[in-house]
Amino acid sequence: MPLIGLKESALKLILFGGKGGVGKTTCAASTGVFLARDFKTLLVSTDPAHSVSDSLGQQIGDVVTGVKNVKNLSALEINAEKALREFKMEYEKEIKKILDTSTNLDQEDIESVFSMSIPGLDEVMGFKTIMNLMDKGEYDKYIIDTAPTGHALRLLTMPKLLDDWVKMLAKLRWKYRYMVKTFSGKIQADEADDFLLNMKKTVKKIEELLRDPDRCEFIAVTIPEEMAILETSRLIGSLGEYGVKVKQLVVNNVAMVSDCEFCRERRKEQEKYINQIKKKFANLHTTIMYQQPREVKGADALSVFTRQLAQGDRVEVADRL
Ligand SMILES: Nc1ncnc2c1ncn2[C@@H]1O[C@H](COP(=O)(O)OP(=O)(O)O)[C@@H](O)[C@H]1O
Ligand SMILES: [Mg+2]
Repeated sequence: MPLIGLKESALKLILFGGKGGVGKTTCAASTGVFLARDFKTLLVSTDPAHSVSDSLGQQIGDVVTGVKNVKNLSALEINAEKALREFKMEYEKEIKKILDTSTNLDQEDIESVFSMSIPGLDEVMGFKTIMNLMDKGEYDKYIIDTAPTGHALRLLTMPKLLDDWVKMLAKLRWKYRYMVKTFSGKIQADEADDFLLNMKKTVKKIEELLRDPDRCEFIAVTIPEEMAILETSRLIGSLGEYGVKVKQLVVNNVAMVSDCEFCRERRKEQEKYINQIKKKFANLHTTIMYQQPREVKGADALSVFTRQLAQGDRVEVADRL
């Protein structure tokens, strides 16, 4: 059965996640090709080891780029470090003001705190880039090719990371404001306060979006192998803890039953794990993807792949090559 619900108009953000090498990028890119037929679609990679360019057979990079030969599909490979640098540049004045007015740090210390790298903040900023794009409302669908499991979870816990960071700054700020109020009796919100308030709002917005099953869906991708199944279990469990409910699963790389002896043997071995998957994830909608005779690369191959992924046809990419 193919993936379901992708065309629901409320559904804006679709994330693909799973262990390394299971086919996340391939599924995300072919879903992009599929949805672009009806919707303005943006395919975004947050995996630092970007492979959307490879999958599409076209250099993408950190600027939104139109995908050749696929109308209505654009792609972007987020450079989280660059996003953080830009964020710091944009809010340098506000952040330094908070440090300056709320701490005893001298200018030199402030510079070094400002340039300090805060773990996870670059990814947070990467996700903020997606939110900013969504706010602009240029696209109907945003498809995210996430990094392997551990990383994807960091991305989703990121609102908390950002929240902690804002809280830390706000705490400093409150001390300062308390003093100002005590000594001068009056207090006025300044740009540093506005900055904190805005950041707080961003965190809330991201969290609400990720937890809204109508607007956001996380699709798990796995393969019929023991380690991948274990990791999928962990991933779905952890996502659940963050309030993200996984509804469907792609089981990729399943060998087709054919006259080929090797394929038959392989399939027999896989059958054991496919049954395990069916039992373990009985409540999830499952889409089986067959192993193709060659890599799925380029818009044409992706468009054939998606006939099976999203339309339910049983195809081999090779039949068109
Ligand atoms: N069903 C499939 N049949 C054949 N090759 C596949 C299939 N799914 C993925 N691939 C290939 O396997 C490699 C890894 O897939 P990819 O989508 O990049 O995985 P991930 O993003 O999870 O690391 C790619 O070269 C891709 O073309
Ligand atoms: Mg990938």
